[in-house]
Amino acid sequence: MREESITNLLERIQHETGIVLSRVSDRDRIGRYLDRGGEIPSNSSPLSSELINLITTNETYFERESHHFDYLMGKILPELENNSSSKPIRILSAPCSSGEEVYTIALRILSYPLKCSRAIEIIGVDISEEMIGKAKSGIYSPRSVHALNPEILEKYFTNEGENYRINPLNGITIRFICGNVFDPYLWGELGEFDVIFSRNMMIYFDSIKNRSLLERFRDHLKGYLILGHADEHMQAREVFTPVRSESGVIYCKN
Ligand SMILES: C[S@@+](CC[C@H](N)C(=O)[O-])C[C@H]1O[C@@H](n2cnc3c(N)ncnc32)[C@H](O)[C@@H]1O
Repeated sequence: MREESITNLLERIQHETGIVLSRVSDRDRIGRYLDRGGEIPSNSSPLSSELINLITTNETYFERESHHFDYLMGKILPELENNSSSKPIRILSAPCSSGEEVYTIALRILSYPLKCSRAIEIIGVDISEEMIGKAKSGIYSPRSVHALNPEILEKYFTNEGENYRINPLNGITIRFICGNVFDPYLWGELGEFDVIFSRNMMIYFDSIKNRSLLERFRDHLKGYLILGHADEHMQAREVFTPVRSESGVIYCKN
C-alpha cells in the first residue's frame, strides 16, 4: 500500500511538473514525507508547497554561467536596440528560482548605456512559492553574491546583517510569478518574449516534457533562447536554429 502510494505520487509529480524522481533516494524521500502524514493531493488540487520544496533543486547564484549574460549584452541587446520597434524589450527567466538570474540580467542592463528608449521588462517564473517569496524579498547571502563584481555589490545592494538586500532598480520593470511552466494558463498571462532564459531545469525532466516545453518556448519567442549547458540541447536543435558563439550554443527562432 505504502509502495503504491509512493509510485502514484511520483507519477503525479512527473506528469504535472515534469520532474523525474527515479532514484531509490527519491522514493525514500517521498516515503518519509508520507510517513510523517504528508498530504496526498486529490487529483483536482495542486501539489502542496511542502511537496514542491521537497522535489525541487533550487541552486542558483548571481552571474551563474556568466558567458550567457555576456552574449545578451554583446549581441542580443544591440540587435534589439537597432530594430525599429517601440515595444518594451521583454525577457523571461523560467525558472528563476530565488531571483538571482533575473537581477543579474537587470544589473547587467543597468551597467550598459542603452541607446534606445525602449522600456525593459524582466519576468521571473518558478514553481516554488518559497523561492518566489525569496526573489521578491531580494535578500541574498554572501554565497549567492560571491561572483558579483564588488563595485556592483557596493552600488546596488544594502548590507543587512551578514546578507545583502538589492536596492530598487529604477528603469527596469521586474515581476516574479509563481507558476508551473507546463500550465497553459500561465503562458496566456506571460505573452511573448524577445529572450527566454531557461537554464538548469530541463535536466530534471524527461525528453517528452522537454520537447513540449521547447515548443511552448518557440510559440512565445520572437528572438533568442538560452539554455544551461546540461539542458536539452539535442531537441533544441530540432525546434530552433542553433547559433554558435564564444558563449556556447544559443538558439534563435527559425
Ligand atoms: C536549479 S534551479 C535553476 C535556477 C536558474 N535558472 C539557474 O540556472 O541558476 C531549477 C528551478 O526549476 C524550478 N522548477 C522545476 N520544475 C518547474 C516547473 N515545472 N515549472 C517552473 N519551475 C520549475 C525549481 O523550483 C527550481 O527553482
